[in-house]
Amino acid sequence: MIQESLEKMNPYIPKPATVIAVKNESLETKTLRLELYNWRTDFVPGQFVQLLLPGVGEAPFCIASSQSDQKHIDLTIIRRGILTTSVHYLRPGDAVGIRGPFGKPFPLEALEDRDLLIIATGIGIAALKSLIIYAVENRKRFNNVMLLYGARFIEDLVYRDELKQWEKSIDASITLSKAPPEWQGLRGRVTDHLGALNIGKGTVAAVCGSPTVMSSIADALVVHGISTSDIYVSLERHMKCGIGKCARCLIPGGKHVCTDGPVFRLSEISAGAIGE
Ligand SMILES: Cc1cc2nc3c(=O)[nH]c(=O)nc-3n(C[C@H](O)[C@H](O)[C@H](O)COP(=O)(O)OP(=O)(O)OC[C@H]3O[C@@H](n4cnc5c(N)ncnc54)[C@H](O)[C@@H]3O)c2cc1C
Ligand code: FES
Repeated sequence: MIQESLEKMNPYIPKPATVIAVKNESLETKTLRLELYNWRTDFVPGQFVQLLLPGVGEAPFCIASSQSDQKHIDLTIIRRGILTTSVHYLRPGDAVGIRGPFGKPFPLEALEDRDLLIIATGIGIAALKSLIIYAVENRKRFNNVMLLYGARFIEDLVYRDELKQWEKSIDASITLSKAPPEWQGLRGRVTDHLGALNIGKGTVAAVCGSPTVMSSIADALVVHGISTSDIYVSLERHMKCGIGKCARCLIPGGKHVCTDGPVFRLSEISAGAIGE
């Protein structure tokens, strides 16, 4: 309560959280479970937080956990530069700060009662994980739910335990572009496998991956008959404030990824905005 009032007065003040678990997902990727001290997130799948490490800085990460638990959040973080490398040294008991949740989430009501196709490549699956969990936990609210997850190497795959659980209620497949000979799953890029999926006019898609890959997935989905107003992309841009004040995250067309996104309908952004 006090934290929420402070945040209203000054949105730059972080709220306290404690790392309670660290899971190694792959060589480069870890998932932190954070316990929120005296506050709850009220997040909706697709939103992100700014994670603050004292003495290091802050950066945006999508919430990668169930909306039904608002006292904890999971963040899945791939090692890139100084902040994310420092994150990889965090241990249970360490204190961090959180601002947010921020951003426009997936419009859950617009996705329900539809065939839902979720396409993730690489660390993009972190931005979609809370949506996948939502679809699994509320399976009856959707028609078909399809997950197509692409990675390069088998070692890059994250959420291996969760994938086994999700497969019990949704149609999940993994494709590797650099698969070893013993790999039993799909091979190649996600776009190579769209033809085998049950995609129809009523299908709505949620996509996240690197900008170039996401662009080619979006083009392929349109070719497969999905309207641009039924394709939702989760974009990443360099950010500073996270609250629409600094213009660091502007995309062509004048939208801010932090407040107008990170989730956008493909029809509301210009062609260049994904791949910038
Ligand atoms: C809305 C949003 C959600 C995100 N969610 C996740 C997530 O769930 N998991 C995750 O691992 N990462 C996520 N990111 C990316 C994450 O914020 C960056 O990897 C992080 O800021 C890098 O910080 P750093 O100090 O370690 O690296 P830096 O030293 O700042 O950068 C290292 C490298 O990463 C690139 N980079 C840094 N920030 C970004 C960015 N925002 N977009 C694209 N490239 C970047 C830099 O150009 C550089 O090449 C998200 C970004 C946004 C905007
Ligand atoms: S990050 Fe400052 S305006 Fe978006």
